[in-house]
Amino acid sequence: MTEAYPTPAVEMRGIVKRFPGVVANDRVSLSVSAGEIHALLGENGAGKSTLMNVLCGRYQQDEGQILLRSRDTGVPQLVNIRSPHDAFDLGIGMVHQHFMLVPTQTVAENVILGLGQPRFVLRMGQVEEAVMDLSRQYGLHVDPGAYIWQISVGEQQRVEILKMLYRGADVLILDEPTAVLTPQESEELGHTLRRMADEGKSIIFITHKLDEVTAFSDRVTVLRDGKNIATLATADTDKAELARLMVGRDVLFRLDRAEIEGEGGDTYGTAILGVQNVQALNDKGLPALRGVSLEVCSGQILGIAGVAGNGQRELAEVITGLRPVAGGQVLVRGQDLTDHSPADFIRTGVSHIPGDRLGVGLAGNLPLSDNLIMKAYRRHPLSSGPFLLRNAIEEFTERLIGIFQIAAPSPVTPVRMLSGGNLQKTILAREITAGQSFSQDQASLLIAMHPTRGLDVGATESVHRTLLEQRAQGAAILLISEDLDELLALADRIAVIFEGEIMDTVAAANADLEHLGLLMAGERRQTEPGLED
Ligand SMILES: Nc1ncnc2c1ncn2[C@@H]1O[C@H](COP(=O)(O)OP(=O)(O)OP(=O)(O)O)[C@@H](O)[C@H]1O
Ligand SMILES: [Mg+2]
Repeated sequence: MTEAYPTPAVEMRGIVKRFPGVVANDRVSLSVSAGEIHALLGENGAGKSTLMNVLCGRYQQDEGQILLRSRDTGVPQLVNIRSPHDAFDLGIGMVHQHFMLVPTQTVAENVILGLGQPRFVLRMGQVEEAVMDLSRQYGLHVDPGAYIWQISVGEQQRVEILKMLYRGADVLILDEPTAVLTPQESEELGHTLRRMADEGKSIIFITHKLDEVTAFSDRVTVLRDGKNIATLATADTDKAELARLMVGRDVLFRLDRAEIEGEGGDTYGTAILGVQNVQALNDKGLPALRGVSLEVCSGQILGIAGVAGNGQRELAEVITGLRPVAGGQVLVRGQDLTDHSPADFIRTGVSHIPGDRLGVGLAGNLPLSDNLIMKAYRRHPLSSGPFLLRNAIEEFTERLIGIFQIAAPSPVTPVRMLSGGNLQKTILAREITAGQSFSQDQASLLIAMHPTRGLDVGATESVHRTLLEQRAQGAAILLISEDLDELLALADRIAVIFEGEIMDTVAAANADLEHLGLLMAGERRQTEPGLED
């Protein structure tokens, strides 16, 4: 190994970073060579983002050193990175999971944003040309003149990468870059990263997807509880070993999913959710749903596949009372709930795991415990008449923290301080238990949007298992996901949404990946006549 990775381009030595109540990085060392793609892996809360935030100047380490190979002499030198600006000057750039682009400006304007030159001095035409050149060189296709609000999330990510390249970054850090990408986009990103590495850049990328580690990286470092557990050559390891290193136990990749379907096909329970010819507008007032009809029965998981931004969010909002319909009907257990309030939906047993966790999912400044009981506090056993039962609440929250393995310093920690994946687990715990306590008398309905996005393998496994348990208990589940593997593993049927329309619905058991991919891209099979309108 040593000869393959001569002088590290960047080296972190014994990094310690503490937050109140946690040691997020506990003497972590990491080195990356020029030309190397290095994957950073670890469970939710393991300290990955923190470590990279130290490298890119967002956080200061409490202990430890960072060495960077000098651009002039090629000799490693100690560097003091006090701000993202310092990091930039040293050639270190990071693409954060939440992009920091200005929606009302163009791609090219965003690329030069913060560079210090007044805009009128620069000729935008030249900048656009330079952006074009870079985008061609690295296969990062975007239109330099397009406005950020006009382009997809995948394109926005390319802009973030171009921004770093334009500034001449030698060390590029990407925090969960593929969490928001379609499978095709992820693969393209893999090629782009390789091209950048071939130019001599050092790439560090954080991911939870083991397939990507195997496909894209040269080496991989696994963090657990803030410590570096191992650094391995990707070629010398495999998914099972990586998962074991991350979690500290064996992880099974197989799910037991009992077939409930009989031979006639639709022998599910009664219809719990009925969506009939629903139309709705998006936030810009443009049509987002154009006559969607769906049915989800008790004991059934209906998957919604599609590229983000094709009406998924609006669909979830319409069937949880968060967005008005422009036409059509929403029925829950036969009851017409069209345009009813979210409270009515909750009362009828509808749970919702939203895509935007911090926006609508959680109250960031409130303690973890309050966030967990938000939906259950009015009911037995947490309250008795108007009184909240303190002990019962404590017991309840501690049980959820245990079951869902939410890593937090304490139940009273404000949720905004939790790691990305632990925020997610908090919502899941609350929504799934809200459904469970309801389902004692009637089948519940769960609307789950990207329920495992950003979750580590262990947590993904337990969420999948929980969803299947809910299904076995008779819950109706609408599972909106961009992850086809997830949909194929869990769903009974898969409906593909494109530009606000359901293109087709297929049984998951005999679904064909290529066909699904084509539908997601808006193409129907040519053999089906009369579908153009
Ligand atoms: N700004 C902060 N204030 C307090 N605690 C923090 C802060 N940022 C992170 N932490 C804590 O540090 C630990 C590591 O968090 P970090 O965000 O680095 O995890 P991660 O490995 O990126 O996880 P994920 O996969 O969930 O994104 C967690 O326990 C988290 O709660
Ligand atoms: Mg993180």
